[in-house]
Amino acid sequence: IRTIVVHEHDDIARLVAGRIAALIREKQSRGERAILGLATGSTPIGVYRELIRMHREEGLSFANVVTFNLDEYYPMAPDSIHSYHRYMWENLFSHIDVRPENVHIPEGMLPRDQVDAACAAYEAKIREVGGIDFQILGIGKTGHIGFNEPGSGVESRTRLVHLDAITRKDAAADFFGEENVPREALTMGVATILDAREIAILATGEHKAGIVRRAVEGEIDIEVAATFLQRHPATTFYVDDAAAADLT
Ligand code: F6R
Repeated sequence: IRTIVVHEHDDIARLVAGRIAALIREKQSRGERAILGLATGSTPIGVYRELIRMHREEGLSFANVVTFNLDEYYPMAPDSIHSYHRYMWENLFSHIDVRPENVHIPEGMLPRDQVDAACAAYEAKIREVGGIDFQILGIGKTGHIGFNEPGSGVESRTRLVHLDAITRKDAAADFFGEENVPREALTMGVATILDAREIAILATGEHKAGIVRRAVEGEIDIEVAATFLQRHPATTFYVDDAAAADLT
C-alpha cells in the first residue's frame, strides 16, 4: 500500500476527485466507459462535493460512467433517510449527469429468498462491464472495507452479512439509537474489492489512527479486512495528519 499523508481533509478530496476525473476523461477519449466503485459514510463526502464542482464548473461529464456501490443495509427501503441509495442520490447522483440505468447499489428490500441470486447478479454485472476501474473505500473501526467485518475471507464475494457490534454502535447516533441499526447488510466481498484495478482508501480523524496503523503496518489478518489491501498492486491510502498519527 502506498500511503499519502495530507494535512487538510479538503486536499484528500481534491486529490482523489482529480484522479477520478482524469480516469473518466481518459476513458472518454477512447470511447470507453469508466467503471467506478463507490462508498458512503462521512469520509467520501468531500470527494463527491469536488466531483460535483468539477461537473458544474469544468464540464466533467458522467454520461459515460457506470457506478457500483459497495454496500447497503438490510433490510432497508431505498427512500429511507438511512439508506445508501438516498445517500448517493443526495450527495452525488442528483447533481451530476450520470444515467440512472448506469447506477448500481445493492437492493436492501429484496425478500430474503432472493438475496443470494441478487448478490450473484451484482457480481455478474460487474464482470459484464469489464470490472471496476477505480474503487473508493473508507475504513470502519473494525477494519471493515465495505461491510466486510472481522472474519470476512479474502475469497468473499457480494453477500448478506451480519454487522459487527462495534459497527452498529458507531452507527447508533445516525439511527437515533443502536436498537434501530439494522443487524445485517449486503456488501461486496473482499475478493470483489481486490478485483478493482485501482483502489483509494480514505481515512480522516484521530478516531481512525489505530485502525489505519493496523491496516497499513499490521500482519495480513482475516480479522481486519483492510489488511488484505496490502496484497493489492495499486492501492493508495489517503490519510490526514490525525489519522496518520500512529503510523511509524
Ligand atoms: C460505506 C462503507 C463503510 C465505510 C466505513 C467508514 O459504504 O462501505 O466501510 O466506508 O464504515 O465510514 P465513515 O466514512 O462514516 O467513517
